[in-house]
Amino acid sequence: MESELKTRIDALEAKYAVSGQALLDYLDGLVETDYLKYWDYIHLDTLLSLQSPRTKHHDEPIFIMYHQITELYFKLCLHELKDVIESEGMDATLMEERLRRCNTYFKALDNSFSIMVDGMDRKQFLKFRMALLPASGFQSAQYRMIEMACAPLNQLVHIDHRQEMAEEKDVTTLFKKLYWQSGATIAATGEKTLTLIQFEEKYAAGFQAQASQWAGRTVSHRMADLTEAGKMTEGLREQARAFDRHVNVLWPLSHYKSAVRYLAKKPADVRATGGTNWQKYLPPRMQLRIFFPHMWTQTEKDAWGTLPSKPSVNK
Ligand code: HEM
Repeated sequence: MESELKTRIDALEAKYAVSGQALLDYLDGLVETDYLKYWDYIHLDTLLSLQSPRTKHHDEPIFIMYHQITELYFKLCLHELKDVIESEGMDATLMEERLRRCNTYFKALDNSFSIMVDGMDRKQFLKFRMALLPASGFQSAQYRMIEMACAPLNQLVHIDHRQEMAEEKDVTTLFKKLYWQSGATIAATGEKTLTLIQFEEKYAAGFQAQASQWAGRTVSHRMADLTEAGKMTEGLREQARAFDRHVNVLWPLSHYKSAVRYLAKKPADVRATGGTNWQKYLPPRMQLRIFFPHMWTQTEKDAWGTLPSKPSVNK
């Protein structure tokens, strides 16, 4: 026991000595320090105080909390994707593990979307949403960051411009043609919706800086490097395909279902808070967003967004 204690004391002494600190001072601090409590560690009081409904409707907190839960899952995902992009020595085994985690998070999101689709009273939803204008999940910066982490901007431009901009390198030029920019532009006038104007005011500069920093280093590039070096594995390919499908087909389909449940109405659909033509904008078969196109067969790409039962592996 004594020698175990000494080993640790020596290790601590060495640690503090490096920065010219005295271990004894830190031990004095430790004697004074209170025990860590669960609620302080995870900032529980703060977390539970972050819901501020704009109306008195019973179901509005559900809408707020499920968005917050989703943003936390997005953050978990970005935590893994950033590691893939920024870590040196990321091999296929580690990258597979990172993407496997991302798939677990998106699976949890897919499985829980019924909290939105079936979990709120439609009448209440249609009332409280009017107090939220012009805010929209469209303004989720983390959702856009996940996309920029995974694929070069060329693949995220609107499908109508994707081919002509396949070789474009300029971030500002590409940024103007991103699919979501067109989605939130009023077709008749060419004007941006207020939702888009405000989103850009807050995030456009940061997005472009981040895209420039990640140029040539996205998850897609990392995988191309491994393929070129002959180090791509079947396991990584499976996880990459599953992730592409989760983010670009399954989540958008679950999300679209909630828009249909609440906004579809005869004779005319309810207008979206973000002002997009949501029936055309949200279905994944319209946007055809694919992070890793070289991993899918032409037949699979042609059927994108129409839910094949299980993707076959493109060897
Ligand atoms: C009842 C539930 C929901 C409805 C009716 C709904 C509706 C919509 C609509 C109509 C849009 C298109 C943009 C617009 O014009 O506003 C949109 C976009 C979006 N929403 Fe939701 N939404 C719901 C729940 C959620 C949740 C829980 C999240 C999680 C963060 C979310 C995230 C997003 C994102 C990221 C977009 C942009 C999608 C894209 O650009 O392809 N939404 N939503």
